[in-house]
Amino acid sequence: MLTPTFHFTILEDFLEVMNEQANILVQKLEKHVDKEPFDCTLYITLCALDVICETAMGKNIGAQHNKDSEYVRAVYRMSVLIQQRQKSPWLWPDLLYPMFQEGREHYRSLKILHSFTDNVIAEKAQELKNQEQHRSNAVSNSEQSRHKVRRAFLDMLLNATDDDGKKLGYLDIREEVDTFMFEGHDTTAAAMKWCIYLLASHPEAQRKVHNELDEVFGDSDRNITMDDLKQLRYLDCAIKEALRLFPSVPFFGRTLSEECYIRGFRIPKGTDVIIGSFALHRDHVAFPEPEEFRPERFFTENAAGRHPYAYVPFSAGPRNCIGQRFAKMEEMAILATILRHFFIESTQLRDQLFPVGELILRPNKGIWIQLKRRSTSCS
Ligand code: HEM
Repeated sequence: MLTPTFHFTILEDFLEVMNEQANILVQKLEKHVDKEPFDCTLYITLCALDVICETAMGKNIGAQHNKDSEYVRAVYRMSVLIQQRQKSPWLWPDLLYPMFQEGREHYRSLKILHSFTDNVIAEKAQELKNQEQHRSNAVSNSEQSRHKVRRAFLDMLLNATDDDGKKLGYLDIREEVDTFMFEGHDTTAAAMKWCIYLLASHPEAQRKVHNELDEVFGDSDRNITMDDLKQLRYLDCAIKEALRLFPSVPFFGRTLSEECYIRGFRIPKGTDVIIGSFALHRDHVAFPEPEEFRPERFFTENAAGRHPYAYVPFSAGPRNCIGQRFAKMEEMAILATILRHFFIESTQLRDQLFPVGELILRPNKGIWIQLKRRSTSCS
């Protein structure tokens, strides 16, 4: 039921949102041009949060302008609290959790998140009803089409039906919107941060991205289109290579539905297994000199013959990531916009990154970069 909500035409609508938010991000970054190194992580996260709010719920929360909004704070608090709880067995029992300060804060934050989503769903459901009424009152299509309404995932969910024509229930919808909100911004933000770091510390690769951007956009400051994205092949390979070295979801779990053999050892059916993509992606056979950042590994001719499961940043099989096309598009649009404007430099060494794999693989000490303006044409 959910897969059609990620179809091509709605993704095209979302590119507009991504362009808008990327342009705001560039405005925010302007103040760092030719200045001291700064940590870019919060800027990227807030931009990704604005993109997901508008695309998932159709709501512009303006996180980039106001990082102190109650909703934005609750999203962050909740991620921290979930990670703390994962690491602290005494916080696991649901009955005991509210007796701890963390538990009480968890429920307070959850209430803020749910009431925000509740209100948005109620508004959208009402809008949908009004539209249906208008249609039955024979309001001319031309009048409606004059107000181009931007669709959100939520609109699609309200209309989604299964094979028997049944619609999703209210709680199902809220759960999906909340899932998109969390799965859909932290992952993408982390991927963009790692890619920025890797390009900043590999000027040769960054130069290739700049050349490609110049070929596609020249001096123009126009927004990025779907066709442009198809032409940005080197950037696409750089994004893939960054996700190889630093997969935003560094491991995922499965229960074996049938027994299997790994290097001669029998693993019985029913065993819970962890697939560690962070380690898998460093396999010497599939990726020689695995610690090296080489976007060229993903050129079609170089990737030919590689085992299809040697690289699984979005997992694989029937429960793989539903949002991967969305994520790639967002990364391409935002990174291309940043790199059309700036040269990025970094003096941070790999061993100063301290990647931590909690819910998401993130740089524990931030990503410190310096910016130089590329040209005035697109500012
Ligand atoms: C670079 C960005 C992203 C990465 C690396 C990523 C990675 C993953 C991975 C590895 C899984 C499988 C987890 C498992 O098997 O336990 C997954 C599932 C999922 N992802 Fe993503 N994701 C990204 C972006 C997104 C976005 C943007 C959305 C939504 C807008 C999204 C929505 C989902 C959902 C709903 C699932 C669960 C699918 C299911 O259980 O059938 N993800 N993602």
